[in-house]
This record gives sequence, C-alpha cells and structure tokens, in this order.
Amino acid sequence: MALKFIRMAVLYAFVGIGLGIYMAASHSFSQHSTHAHANLLGWVSSAIFGLIYQVFPELGRHQLATAHFYLHSVGLPIIISGVFLIYSNHGDVGEPLASIGSIVISLGFIALGINVFRNTPAE
Ligand code: HEM
Ligand code: HEM
Repeated sequence: MALKFIRMAVLYAFVGIGLGIYMAASHSFSQHSTHAHANLLGWVSSAIFGLIYQVFPELGRHQLATAHFYLHSVGLPIIISGVFLIYSNHGDVGEPLASIGSIVISLGFIALGINVFRNTPAE
C-alpha cells in the first residue's frame, strides 16, 4: 500500500497547491479550508501513511492497510467536495457530504490505529 498512498498524496498535492495558487491569484480566500484539507488530509496525511507502510512493510501487507487505503481514497473526494460546497454557499449539499467523508476517513484512521497497535513488534 506504500506506493499507492504516495501516488495518491502527489495527486492531492496538485489539487491543494492548485487551489492555493488560485486563492492567491484571485485574492479570494473563501476556499482556504478546502485548500487546507486537500493539502493536509490529501497530500500530507497520505504521504505519511505511505511512508509508515514503507518503513513497516508488515503493516503495509496487512488487510487493514488495504481497508485503510480504500477508505481514505473514497472518503477524501467526498469530504473535499463537501467542504468546497459549504464554502460556495451550498451547505445544504456540502454538510452531509463533509460528514459522510469525515466518517469514512476516520474509519480509515481507525484501521491504521488497529494495525499499528496489533501488528508492530514489542520494543
Ligand atoms: C504553492 C503552494 C501554496 C499556495 C500558493 C498556498 C496559498 C495559500 C493561501 C492563499 C491561503 C489563504 C490564506 C488566508 O486565508 O489568509 C492558504 C492557507 C492555508 N494553507 Fe496554503 N498554499 C500553498 C501550499 C500549502 C501546503 C503545501 C500546505 C500544507 C501542507 C498548506 C496549508 C495551508 C493551511 C493549513 C492554510 C489555512 C491557514 C488558516 O486557515 O489560517 N498550503 N494557502
Ligand atoms: C476527518 C478528518 C478531519 C475533519 C472532519 C476536520 C475538520 C475540521 C474543521 C470542521 C475545521 C474548521 C473549519 C473552518 O473553520 O472552516 C478544521 C480546521 C483545520 N483543520 Fe481539520 N479536520 C480533519 C483533519 C485534519 C487533519 C488530518 C489536519 C492536519 C494534518 C487538519 C488541520 C486543520 C487545520 C490546520 C485547520 C485550520 C485551517 C483552516 O480551517 O483553514 N485537519 N478541520
């Protein structure tokens, strides 16, 4: 799962940085939260996941890592588009999307947590 997460991270870096450049160029900062989470959940968190699974390959080979990857990759576009819609004055659609996306992403983090605490060797 390491490389899959790293590829996903790079794709979201383009989304996050693209939004950042758009905000800076247009002097319109209303999407700062969409930009922040595309960068921090999409680029930074995915890159860290990829590096964790690379450093601890036994975690990366586990089914929990597969579950984590699919939960994160499904949850991300849902939460990012939800937050985007909230800050485009479409909160009626954006709020439920952001809620569903954050639950799906949190389930992915839980899969990572179980994997880390169950499947790493005792120090
Ligand atoms: C070329 C790259 C980038 C550009 C042009 C850019 C631009 C911006 C702009 C214009 C804002 C809004 C500032 C405001 O509302 O006053 C912002 C906010 C923010 N950016 Fe970026 N950004 C870039 C890359 C990144 C990266 C790589 C990250 C994280 C890894 C990041 C994290 C954030 C965060 C967390 C905020 C929100 C700060 C707050 O709410 O106070 N940005 N960025
Ligand atoms: C499912 C996961 C997450 C949820 C539901 C969530 C939710 C939120 C909410 C509701 C806000 C306030 C938004 C606003 O004022 O517009 C916020 C702000 C922020 N969050 Fe998150 N967050 C999540 C994950 C993360 C992660 C993983 C990071 C960092 C690695 C992060 C960094 C930030 C930062 C820096 C801000 C303030 C900047 C801004 O709103 O522009 N968040 N988050």
